[in-house]
This record gives sequence, C-alpha cells and structure tokens, in this order.
Amino acid sequence: MEMIKRPRRLRENAVIRKMVRETRLDKSSLVYPIFVMEGEGITEEIPSMPGQYRYSIDTFIVKLKELLAHGVSSVMIFGIPDQKDEIGSGAYDSNGIVQRALRAAKKAVPDMYYITDVCMCEYTSHGHCGVLNGNDVDNDPTLELLAKTALSHAEAGADMVAPSDMMDGRVLAIRRKLDENGYSRVPIMSYAVKYASAFYGPFRDAADSAPKFGDRKTYQMDFHNVREGIKEALTDVEEGADIVMVKPAMSFHDVLTKVHDVVNVPVACYSVSGEYAMVKAAAQNGWIDEDRIVGEMAVSAFRAGAQIYITYYAERIARLIDEGVIG
Ligand code: PBG
Repeated sequence: MEMIKRPRRLRENAVIRKMVRETRLDKSSLVYPIFVMEGEGITEEIPSMPGQYRYSIDTFIVKLKELLAHGVSSVMIFGIPDQKDEIGSGAYDSNGIVQRALRAAKKAVPDMYYITDVCMCEYTSHGHCGVLNGNDVDNDPTLELLAKTALSHAEAGADMVAPSDMMDGRVLAIRRKLDENGYSRVPIMSYAVKYASAFYGPFRDAADSAPKFGDRKTYQMDFHNVREGIKEALTDVEEGADIVMVKPAMSFHDVLTKVHDVVNVPVACYSVSGEYAMVKAAAQNGWIDEDRIVGEMAVSAFRAGAQIYITYYAERIARLIDEGVIG
C-alpha cells in the first residue's frame, strides 16, 4: 500500500524520539512549595501528603541545602503560625514565622530563590483569606493587610511575592506598597487564575487553613469558567503582575493554554496538594508507576504552556532528570 506519511519513522529509536521532542524538562523551571512552623528540630510528616513535611526553621534550612544540592533552586514558602486571630496579624508581623524563616534562610542559604505565598488564611482564626464583614471577606480593607504582608516579606528578604488570596485589586495594592518602600525590584507572581477547588484539601490539613465556616467561592473562581480566568489574568497583568499562575494544574490545562495565548508575561502552573496526594496514594498501593506519572504530569504542564512548574515533586523530578528517567 502506498503510504507517504509514516509518523512511526520519527519514533524508530530513542535518539530520534528525543531529537524531535517538542517539550523538555529543565530543573530551573521547578519551584518547591515548603511549610515552615514554629519550634525546633521538627520534621513532621503531613498525613495526607506522605513524603512532605512541616519544618521548623532549623530543619527548613537543612532541607533548603538538600534541595539546592539536587538542583532545585527556588522555593515557595508557606507559614504555619502558632497563633491566629480575627485579622490575621501573624501574616504581616515582622517577627512572624515566614519573616523569621526568610531572614535565617537568606543568611544560611543565599543561593536559593525565595518566593513567599502572600495570604491570610493560615493566620486568621476563621480560616478565610482576608478580614470579615459578617460572613464574607471584605475586599478593600483586606488589600492593605495583604500589601503589608508582602512588604514584610520583602523586608525579610523575599526575592518574589506571590499573592494567593484572590481579592480584587491586590496586585496593584501590593505593587504600590512595595514601590513606595523601595522594593520596586521585587516581582509579583500572582495566583491570578485560582479556582475554588477540592484539590486543595491536603494543603489545608498541612497548613491548618480550612475555613471554619462556608467556603471560598465568593473569592476563588468557579471551575466551570475559562473566559473569566482570562479576565483575571489580564486584570492582574494590567495591575503589574510579572508572572501569572493558573491553579490547580492537571484538571485546568485548557485554562493554562488559553491564558498562555493571551498574556505576554510568563505563566506558572501549580500542581497542588490534592494532585500530589492522589498520585502518592495510588503509588503506595502499587497501582501506578509513580516516576513515570510524575514525568507525564510535569511535561503536560509545560506542553500546555507553563514556563514555571510549582510542585511537591520538584526534588524527585530533579533527581529523575539527573538519572535520565524523564526529560
Ligand atoms: C492559600 C493557599 C492555598 C494553596 C496555596 N495557597 C489554599 C487555599 O486557597 O485554600 C493551595 C496549595 C495546594 O493545595 O497545594 N490561600
């Protein structure tokens, strides 16, 4: 039979398959999310995220060195404070957990790139991402607190701040606050397209940040919508976001691709706690090949348009790249 086009010709062996690859993994695109808590000598495994831990500042620093040694050169820090209150004052306290962890880490491990999550849900007694008015988060008064939080992170040495609260206008509020205080060089990675998602469940266990009543649907996005995600991304770019993020990853690659096509800033993709937990659980049961699944998930994020991939598997991906298992 006459057949001029034979796609299999380019799959003949590993050399040609690799030569024609459209997407390649690179360790420099990885960001590792990490949890820091009060105390000393603590490495506490998160029950719903086997292999992920909460660290006290001293063990956090040990972990940072290990990450760097494996070629993971950027982390995203989440703080777990000892005390919470109505107005989340631990978030913008210059002696808060993130601020102290940052100061110590910048000194001990200066080559790491430090991104901080800017939000209030870990610090408020009600678990919502801002201050309340009745049963809902009050947008505009929350902006000042988020801006103060971002500034306190910058003062403590953050290389980049990443607001995840989903309040309207927060990128502009943070940009202004940073600029007024001499931090115009600190970029903002906005969690621009963040959906109200069940995939955050294990994170909320890890950070003890589940809302005590209601849900986050009046600020995080409805997952039925993609054009609304484009609106959020474009708005944040106009407000000065240097990078926009789409979150979660796996179930939102259509959104990632569309956002990538309409913005001219780098796009990040966050493979969240629930995605990690699902893969881990299946792997622990021997039902899937964890390494290969992790490789496919990472490649799919880049293929869909991400330039930055935030993942609890960052260290493992780095090792698998070194070993030539994925690439
Ligand atoms: C804080 C925040 C959350 C995540 C990142 N920043 C939780 C939430 O919005 O409830 C989720 C990360 C993950 O699930 O891995 N607002």
